[in-house]
Amino acid sequence: MPKIALLPGDGIGKEVVREAVKILLAVGKRYNLDFVFEEGLIGGSAYDATSSPLPPKTIDLCLGADAVLLGAVGGPKWDDLPGNLRPEAGLLGIRKALGLYANLRPARVFPGLTGASPLKEKVVSGIDILVIRELTGGIYFGEPRGREKLVSGGTKAYDTMVYTTEEVRRIAELAFEIAAKRCGRVTSVDKANVLESSRLWREVVRQVHQRYPDVVLTEMYVDNCAMQLVRDPGQFDVILTTNLFGDILSDEAAMLTGSLGMLPSASLGGSVGLYEPVHGSAPDIAGENKANPLATILSAAMLLRYSLGLHQEAQAIEDAVEAALLAGYRTLDIAAGSCQVVSTSQMGDLVAGFIRQGSQPGKAGAL
Ligand code: IPM
Ligand code: MG
Repeated sequence: MPKIALLPGDGIGKEVVREAVKILLAVGKRYNLDFVFEEGLIGGSAYDATSSPLPPKTIDLCLGADAVLLGAVGGPKWDDLPGNLRPEAGLLGIRKALGLYANLRPARVFPGLTGASPLKEKVVSGIDILVIRELTGGIYFGEPRGREKLVSGGTKAYDTMVYTTEEVRRIAELAFEIAAKRCGRVTSVDKANVLESSRLWREVVRQVHQRYPDVVLTEMYVDNCAMQLVRDPGQFDVILTTNLFGDILSDEAAMLTGSLGMLPSASLGGSVGLYEPVHGSAPDIAGENKANPLATILSAAMLLRYSLGLHQEAQAIEDAVEAALLAGYRTLDIAAGSCQVVSTSQMGDLVAGFIRQGSQPGKAGAL
């Protein structure tokens, strides 16, 4: 019986994880699978209950599970806490504790949704980009970091962007492996015209590339990549990049798909994978049953595929999401034209319904 650790976290995290569980139960029913769910605390709600954004019990829970499904962390309530107690420290801590150095963020435009993108339909139609973000290195974790009072008055604050050969090698290898199974193109994104850590990144990526002659490697500076993503996103297959650049570019790539509420992610590399939507805790709409649960539902599909090897079941979720969209159902964030706006829980019910029916994409009834 696969054991899934649930870390709903803060804000809309709780609502969207609830819908993903609904979907996993529907999949379980259809394919005769029994999932065991166990819930743990992370982020601000963990801080409120235990004075730590990542209680040791949560780490143990995750290490003892087959996979982890996480909602989101953060909110204004905890904004004034010191860095190491903030909800975000819980998320960074669990990524590090589980050794999740590879973050996969697929940005794909669903057929029913090209109209929801802020870009022209002809620019975004058919895009299918995978951002592979290095997740446990770079400026997020580099030492030294801190603050010092200056004798001359004022304060200095600093972070360190650091990469080792080994950290770049393992993520580059994964990117080439995955690209070889997709369209065979990797764009490695850095700032090698300015940053020393990016120059090492480039060198190592080139070395690793020699072992993958069938994959085409392009190198791009991050500022140019930010521009190319809106100018001509169709040129990208796999984007391989550092922790900080990947954080920024994946939000941008998400928006091409219509909403941040559509983008799932998988964090891999350790013994247990972690799956979470790319969006945050959206405190402004938390508790209102308005959030889009599809990114978390699609993260659950990635969980089935990457951690449990359940490919058919993962596909069933993706097909059901596509069917719900093609039938015209939308949460507020992706509402456009003559669609039917539904709540978080209604969207969960609809997708679960399409899973039960075994719907094929494109075969769902129109509204
Ligand atoms: C993300 C988020 C996190 C990050 C925050 C919440 C710490 O923005 O997963 O993209 O910066 O990695
Ligand atoms: Mg982010």
